[in-house]
Amino acid sequence: MRLDDRLGRPLHDLRVSVTDRCNFRCVYCMPKEVFGHDFRFLERNELLTFEETARLVRLFLAAGVEKVRLTGGEPLVRRDLERLVELIAPMPGLRDLTLTTNGSLLAQKARPLADAGLRRVTVSLDSLDDDVFRRMNDVDFPVGRVLDGIAAAEAAGLAPIKINMVVRRGMNEESVLPMARFFAQRGHILRFIEYMDVGHSNGWRLDDVVPAERIVAMIDAEMPLEPVPANYPGEVADRWRYRDGDGEVGVIASVTQPFCRDCTRARLSAEGELYTCLFAVSGHDLRAPLRDGEGDEALAARIAAIWGARTDRYSEQRSAETAALPKVEMSRIGG
Ligand code: GTP
Ligand code: 5AD
Ligand code: SF4
Ligand code: SF4
Repeated sequence: MRLDDRLGRPLHDLRVSVTDRCNFRCVYCMPKEVFGHDFRFLERNELLTFEETARLVRLFLAAGVEKVRLTGGEPLVRRDLERLVELIAPMPGLRDLTLTTNGSLLAQKARPLADAGLRRVTVSLDSLDDDVFRRMNDVDFPVGRVLDGIAAAEAAGLAPIKINMVVRRGMNEESVLPMARFFAQRGHILRFIEYMDVGHSNGWRLDDVVPAERIVAMIDAEMPLEPVPANYPGEVADRWRYRDGDGEVGVIASVTQPFCRDCTRARLSAEGELYTCLFAVSGHDLRAPLRDGEGDEALAARIAAIWGARTDRYSEQRSAETAALPKVEMSRIGG
């Protein structure tokens, strides 16, 4: 089935957040001043159970979704996540099942996740320089343990592995080239992400964004690049290949080159709210009808109606006014 929104965009990917908690406090995502000891995270009974999540995922697959990505907060802090993977992996219609993680717990979790049916992972890593990395995650987490996690994912066959690096001016620009050199050698796909105005607590300023064009120019000067066509329509990263060797990098230019026109992603929060845009102010509650005993058909119609009414194109419309809106936090819908 193909479900189009008001701008003719099909529903194709589902990002499922399994927790709003994270063991990191990345300065651009969960600043400590906001996400401190008295921050109210979701309680256990507010979270969808794995069975509830799986039921919704099945309905999304019937509505045309082919790719499911588990996210957080940090998805691996949710206990027994492999049990959810086991529920989703065999579902009909699923073509890709993956996970975006900060890598801190991957060394222990890669094998059980792969055994449960996870196909690949994307690991967020902002620098190879231990001091810079500790400053950015803001919980003094050493980079070596993330690298161990990436190695474990590779050993477990969760490939191709992608690495996401958020580039923030004045913090980790110097890490761009070392990261490119390191991951080109290892055959992992490194993607540079423009720092975005997600949520409303990271104090985002346009000045802090390093444009993707500049990142590509920095790398191209040392390791010449040429463009590669997208893997699939609506891929968020522009791909570049090394001209003198194997490997590729990507840039996600959501600020300087918005890609809303092809945006086919729905997001389900850990408490069962459906968001039709990363920058939405609010979602559509699916948990209440689910827990009130609504049947599959009615739930499916609800999902179809929400997607059918969708007109979001935040990044294309970004302005001082939209930037000031009380948008949902990244840690709540998982990027
Ligand atoms: P693959 O291409 O399958 O590897 O996945 P992906 O790039 O869609 O997922 P990933 O979680 O790695 O996302 C990479 C970055 O792109 C994250 O910072 C996301 O927040 C950002 N991103 C993903 N989807 C969107 C989107 O629809 N809009 C915007 N503005 N950013 C997005
Ligand atoms: N801008 C860009 N990317 C961000 N991420 C988290 N916050 C931001 C932001 N403000 C990234 C994470 C992760 C992905 C899901 O989103 O580092 O790789
Ligand atoms: Fe950092 Fe990801 Fe945790 Fe946000 S959710 S604080 S980006 S590790
Ligand atoms: Fe999609 Fe919203 Fe991102 Fe545009 S801003 S690409 S509509 S999630």
